[in-house]
This record gives sequence, structure tokens and C-alpha cells, in this order.
Amino acid sequence: MSKRKARIAVLVSGGGTNLQAIIDAASSGIIVSGEVVLVVSSNPSAFALERAKRAGIPAAAVSKKECSSQAEFEGKIVALLEEYGIDLIVLAGFMSILSEDFTGKYPRRIINVHPSLIPSFCGEGFYGLRVHEAALRYGVKVTGATVHFVNEIPDGGEIIMQKAVSVREGDTPEKLQRRVMRLAEWKILPAAVEKISKEIISKSKP
Ligand code: GAR
Repeated sequence: MSKRKARIAVLVSGGGTNLQAIIDAASSGIIVSGEVVLVVSSNPSAFALERAKRAGIPAAAVSKKECSSQAEFEGKIVALLEEYGIDLIVLAGFMSILSEDFTGKYPRRIINVHPSLIPSFCGEGFYGLRVHEAALRYGVKVTGATVHFVNEIPDGGEIIMQKAVSVREGDTPEKLQRRVMRLAEWKILPAAVEKISKEIISKSKP
């Protein structure tokens, strides 16, 4: 009998290259302990939804703009997570800070990928290209990516994995973002998904 896999939901808002890295890692056997069974986007026009569709993964858009409050937005997401019996929530370019009400429901069951070496260039206001703009402005010679558990402090949960990436002469925020994705995010996010999925199924009853 095949072993149970952790049921994973990936929350996205944009292009979804990190979602793609997870999908590809499942196809190539890097992720064997978990299965992406749901993709939720906070943005109905995110290309990540198209990636989910192409991979045959059920996907839903919960438009933040159409919700009158954070509680309504999060309530809709929680309803989907419950419907799909989710064990692990992966934030992969999800551009909305989740409230303590939400994070408190899923201790050590939400992970996030952030495009810097936490605790540098993280917390509220540091997302997407802004992180790389800040790193270049500061003049750091090394940056990278971090996968961490999500708790009530933005980018403040326990670190699971990190990978460093060199900054090069002449880097633009776009060039640096792409290098950090290719050399760090797309590697450590799938690796962390496998690690945490494995831990979840080893703890759950058969
Ligand atoms: C990624 O670089 C991710 O680390 C970052 O947004 C990008 C999403 O790209 N996330 C944050 O900044 C969260 N604070 P993707 O949609 O192609 O995966």
C-alpha cells in the first residue's frame, strides 16, 4: 500500500514560478511525501492559476479586493483549506500578510519563501522586487532566500532553510531577483516542502 502523502495547498498572488518549482519537483521525485491538491490565489488574474490548471491541480481565486475585511478574506481561504483537508500551507509569492487569527490556527503548518537572508530585508513592506531594491541600495555583497515557518510576526517564524547568492557588479533589482529565484528559491522551497511533508506524515496516525 502506498504511504499517505501530506495534502498541500499553495497560496499565490502572481507569476507562480515558485509554485512551478514545486510542481516540477513533484514530477521529478524531489517531493515524494506531499502532494499539491489545491492552489489559492489572492489575485484572480495571476498567471499562477494558469500553471495550476496546466498541472491539473484544483485552483481557486479569493480576491482580496472583493472582500470587505481581512476576516472575510481569510474566512474564505480557511473554508477551502478545510474542504480539501489540507495538512501544509505553502506561501509562494503570496502578497498578503495573514492575521494572528489565521496563523494561530495552523502552528508549524504554514511555510513561506522570502527572497532575502532573514533577518535582512524582511518584515512589512519587504516583498517582491522591493527586497532586491533594498539589498542593492544597502550595498550587500551576499543575499539569498529563506524558507521559514509563518507565525504572527511577518517573516519572523523559525527558519527552515536558507541559501546564499552573490550580488554582482552591475546587478539591477530584476537581474538579482531572477538569480535569487533560480539559485536559491526554486531549490530550497521544494526541499523544505519535502522536509516538512515528511515530518507531518511521520507524526500522523496511519
Ligand atoms: C518570489 O521572489 C518570492 O520569494 C517573493 O515574491 C516572488 C514571487 O514570485 N515573495 C515575497 O516577497 C514574500 N514576502 P513567484 O510568484 O514567481 O513565485
